[in-house]
Amino acid sequence: MDQADRGRLIELTRFAPGGGHCFIAPLADVPPGDREEDPFGSPLVLFEDGIALGPPHSLHAGIREAGGGRYSHWKDSLYLSASDNSDPRVNRRRYQIYVPAVRSGAVGRALASLDALAEGYTPAEAYAAVERCLAALYPAAKIGEDLKSFWNEREFITAYRMLAGDNYRALERKWTVYNLLKALDSVAGDVAECGVYNGATAYFLALGIERGGRRRVLHLFDSFAGLSQPGAADGSFWRAGTLACPEEVARGNLARFSDVRFYRGWIPVQFPAVAGRQFCFVHVDVDLYQPTRDSVEFFFPRLQAGGMLVCDDYGFDSCPGARRALDEYFAGRPERIVHLPTGQGLVIKLDPRAAAAN
Ligand SMILES: C[S@@+](CC[C@H](N)C(=O)[O-])C[C@H]1O[C@@H](n2cnc3c(N)ncnc32)[C@H](O)[C@@H]1O
Repeated sequence: MDQADRGRLIELTRFAPGGGHCFIAPLADVPPGDREEDPFGSPLVLFEDGIALGPPHSLHAGIREAGGGRYSHWKDSLYLSASDNSDPRVNRRRYQIYVPAVRSGAVGRALASLDALAEGYTPAEAYAAVERCLAALYPAAKIGEDLKSFWNEREFITAYRMLAGDNYRALERKWTVYNLLKALDSVAGDVAECGVYNGATAYFLALGIERGGRRRVLHLFDSFAGLSQPGAADGSFWRAGTLACPEEVARGNLARFSDVRFYRGWIPVQFPAVAGRQFCFVHVDVDLYQPTRDSVEFFFPRLQAGGMLVCDDYGFDSCPGARRALDEYFAGRPERIVHLPTGQGLVIKLDPRAAAAN
């Protein structure tokens, strides 16, 4: 790609006060700015001394009141604020807008956000560019916060990559389950998982048990033949037999842990094998209404007070049946379902005597 294909930089030299931290620069010979019918349409990127500012498309009240580099290309003007809310007429900084060559449509805007990254970009600039890129291509998707410290938990990340490769979509859910279980040292009982697949979550359950202060058994239930037949509550996303994984794969992944027991079969056929046990943590991850309902009905009464049930599928549009199963089961009970931003549903078992007294 030669320089002409990469778009152009335009120097901004005229700024009029726009109230608060906001200044207004007139623009000419640039693509259309944001407007009522296309509020995220502008592909322009604003730089201050070579560093991209943002967020773009900011509300003008936010530019005036908070500033901090917020800007908006609205119609034929740029409403901007300096990174430190200084006055761009006198702060001796250089303001440039990058006008990408590919300027139309969502793909153009996405490419522009990457193209605008300067050589030697910082991790924060890369993160912001990818945010803008995804916002253009898939506006409903939301990238979460940057700089999460658990990304640097070496043992956890290494284990995750061993089990799931470089697909990090489930990373936060695994981290959540692992940490919830580690927090349950004061609650007695075993741990169970319904829906095991290759044993990736089970691995972190076993690790959580290992790191905790109690001896517990991990009980793992799966058909190892994939999903059962979806029913009317399950929508159209799933097919019977998807997510089949040989039991040997899960056993291999968990080989280094003792006190792990496998129960192969359709849920709930094997549940009676653990009918006499108590549990501190149950992970339900079978995607469909009926096995979710069966799992919750069997295990929730066997959870100790203070114990937790996590349904992996609760907050996913692909699993309406799992959500319905939980909503129905807990509708008449004192416990509430906490809809976590990971998509998981968490329920903490209350002490039945305390709940009855209230
Ligand atoms: C999403 S995967 C589980 C993933 C696993 N919990 C993890 O995070 O690594 C769903 C699993 O549920 C199992 N499953 C679905 N319906 C089932 C049923 N009716 N009885 C037994 N297993 C079932 C499938 O075989 C599959 O392994």
